[in-house]
Amino acid sequence: MFYPEELVEEVRQKNDIVDVVSGYVKLQKKGGSFWGLCPFHNEKSPSFSVSGDKQMYHCFGCGEGGNVFTFLMKYENFTFPEAVRALADRAGVTLPREEQSEETRRRANRRARLLEVNREAAKYFYYQLRSPHGENGLRYLKKRELSDETIHRFGLGYAGKSGASLVEYLREKGFEDELIKEAGLATFSEKRGLVSQFWNRVMFPIQDINHRVIGFGGRVMGDGEPKYLNSPETPVFDKRRNLYGLNYARTARVGNLILCEGYMDVIAMHQAGFTQAVASLGTAFTAEQAALLHRYTENVLLAYDSDGAGVKAALRGIGILREAGITGKVIDMRPYKDPDEFIKNLGKEAFQERIDHAENSFFFEIRILEGQFDQGDPEEKTRFHREIAKKLCEFTEDVERENYLQAVADKYHIGFENLRKLVTAYAAQTGLAKPVWRPRSGVQQRSDPEENAKKSQRLLITWITDEPQIYGKISRYVTAEDFTEELYRKVAGRLFEELDQGSFHPAGIISMFEDEEEQREAASLFNASLPRLENIKEREKALHDILYSVKKNSYEYYTAKLGTDVNALKQVIDGKKALEELAKTHISLDAG
Ligand code: CTP
Ligand code: MN
Repeated sequence: MFYPEELVEEVRQKNDIVDVVSGYVKLQKKGGSFWGLCPFHNEKSPSFSVSGDKQMYHCFGCGEGGNVFTFLMKYENFTFPEAVRALADRAGVTLPREEQSEETRRRANRRARLLEVNREAAKYFYYQLRSPHGENGLRYLKKRELSDETIHRFGLGYAGKSGASLVEYLREKGFEDELIKEAGLATFSEKRGLVSQFWNRVMFPIQDINHRVIGFGGRVMGDGEPKYLNSPETPVFDKRRNLYGLNYARTARVGNLILCEGYMDVIAMHQAGFTQAVASLGTAFTAEQAALLHRYTENVLLAYDSDGAGVKAALRGIGILREAGITGKVIDMRPYKDPDEFIKNLGKEAFQERIDHAENSFFFEIRILEGQFDQGDPEEKTRFHREIAKKLCEFTEDVERENYLQAVADKYHIGFENLRKLVTAYAAQTGLAKPVWRPRSGVQQRSDPEENAKKSQRLLITWITDEPQIYGKISRYVTAEDFTEELYRKVAGRLFEELDQGSFHPAGIISMFEDEEEQREAASLFNASLPRLENIKEREKALHDILYSVKKNSYEYYTAKLGTDVNALKQVIDGKKALEELAKTHISLDAG
């Protein structure tokens, strides 16, 4: 960590979270906490809560949460050290001189170095674009109708024809060849030494949500191959977990996000005022990206290419969104190929209209399906109807299924009762009396054993922090090792250590993590929704069940690791003993 832990903790304790958040969000006291409209997702009634006791915030709508540092990191797009500095200022705490400690940190932190070399490369490309060497690049971007402001906002640049100069420039700035290579900015060749990876391309720096450059996409000017060349994955560039444009889109707050395929599409949409547009990074859309989107919105509009490949990608995207609890909609781009071309030809008003009339993803799927059957042939038409029934079976919620059944029957002029019979027949035939499908709301998770195990672990941590007196009653059964997720284990380890010493600060534990995403996850451990039970017997049973389930999962986890993990055997033996003991032990919640 950049600043000493004690100092970070002092800064945190001197900045009351309710005060700090009140500067940004209108809060109202209700019960033990303060409530307001969540600044991190769009909502009409307050589900954002700030707890003075816990010194944490938590949104029950989007799952955002953390301590006072996390809040500033998210709201102001600060890095962790920046958040510490801002709050130190606010509370009048003096921090050690930046320069020397930052230098130390740089050396220590490879990730930070990679981010720096990327930023420097982005600067280089940016200036190249404006230099006489960049003329071609600038002309190209102008031809694509990008304004100076847009080019600036997205930090677009140009990689010159001479592959050596970027490497020279970075070396001069003090970056080692090894690092330049690791960042994917250059490759090594026996003959020519280190040569720049990008050559004669306009450059799109790819930024994370904190506006840090994590990689690049480079587009060839004209018709060369490959059209786009992207940075490889590096420790700072995880293509599965980032989205192009999200650094801006996440604060657009228009109630939806638009997902598309291309960098140019994102930029064209932002330029036209649709600043909620994002794109995947030259790879197929992933479940991780869907989860990321879900943190900001329930409404995702797909703006994929209108060609065959685009439709296929959209169908795939719909499935992934659905798994993440998002019902997507599809924007019709026809007769144009993609959002960029659409906006260029028909303008932003027309595009807004397409947004307003985006097609529900279920109907989109059915419409695509329709095209695959010859509707003039009774046999094929029947098969089409069967396929519809099959899709309808995917809705688990009766009301929802009925509603879709009605709507699709109307739309395709199929008798309602006939279609329903097909649904019932299909369900019976496949043994799906009650067809299973992923829940639509992100709140209930699919019953996934791993997620269930994590949930019990979160519940246990939250319960202990809310009622620290129970720790004494259960500490003999549970250790940090029972937390099978690395981050959970770290949090539990620290929490138990502090409890053993008789003073604990859950909000301080969150600052063990520098990364915003990790802080959010750590915070989720302190904000699980505990069962609301009045009756003490029920509470005792609930606690026992949670503890038992944590132990059982831990036992299974280490059993699976026997033979590969030296620590496992001891865990298995201890775990078995604890489980047997727990099975016959009553944990009393009586005071005292
Ligand atoms: N892509 C890629 N590598 C390629 C082609 C495409 O990584 N060889 C990725 C890029 O992220 C690109 C996206 O796929 O932005 C969409 O590709 P495509 O539809 O071919 O390009 P457009 O976005 O239409 O690009 P342009 O308008 O510049 O032709
Ligand atoms: Mn295009």
